[in-house]
Amino acid sequence: MKIQVITLFPKMFPAVLETSMLLKAKDLGIVEYSYIDLREFGQGPRKQVDDTPYGGGDGMLLKPEPLFAAVERAKSNDKDATVYLMTPVGERLKQKTVRSIAKEKTGMIIICAHYEGYDERITSLVDRQISIGDYVLTGGEIPAMVLVDSVVRLLPGVLGGETSAEIESFSDDQTLEFPQYTRPEEFRDMKVPGVLLSGHHAEIEKWRDTHSKKADN
Ligand SMILES: C[S@@+](CC[C@H](N)C(=O)[O-])C[C@H]1O[C@@H](n2cnc3c(N)ncnc32)[C@H](O)[C@@H]1O
Repeated sequence: MKIQVITLFPKMFPAVLETSMLLKAKDLGIVEYSYIDLREFGQGPRKQVDDTPYGGGDGMLLKPEPLFAAVERAKSNDKDATVYLMTPVGERLKQKTVRSIAKEKTGMIIICAHYEGYDERITSLVDRQISIGDYVLTGGEIPAMVLVDSVVRLLPGVLGGETSAEIESFSDDQTLEFPQYTRPEEFRDMKVPGVLLSGHHAEIEKWRDTHSKKADN
């Protein structure tokens, strides 16, 4: 799966996407990451990528011309890729969305906006607008990393055990994971619940069920 990120800050990505499971996915050839520097498509000698909003208001918007050119470049590398725009006004990212994207296995082109946002005309090139939550970040870079991390870890072969993503929070959209413990059995007067040491699988399952909370939806 080709994952192409369009950003003014490509240097932000390797530290996150090229570590741990996301690096493993790349090393195994399951994904290929590339970063398209929006500045390359800027206009004039100063490579301008933003301008003031029509109608007035604070801040600068990403201009349509560089964004269109960057998306067209990304599409020329992967014509069937789905184009995502990270934006607080998009659909809220949920585990079920992540699962469906991971299942589709089509390439991803992810647009990260910055400053006050983007010229609305860019949305004509976008298949899905995604928000990572009801708060505002400085740019789309961290949201894009969240989207990539959540999808890539679900691609077959990335997580160690095939079932690790089947029994975790939100795997059925609403149940949160039960509390878990590892060695030692006792630490600073805090003991591991006895049932988990009992070896009785049915009792352990029952304990886990009763200690799994429900997510707020
Ligand atoms: C400072 S924000 C712009 C906020 C915008 N003026 C608004 O009020 O909705 C700049 C960019 O960061 C990204 N961004 C910020 N918060 C986000 C969120 N919760 N989810 C996804 N992207 C976000 C988007 O690409 C956004 O255009």
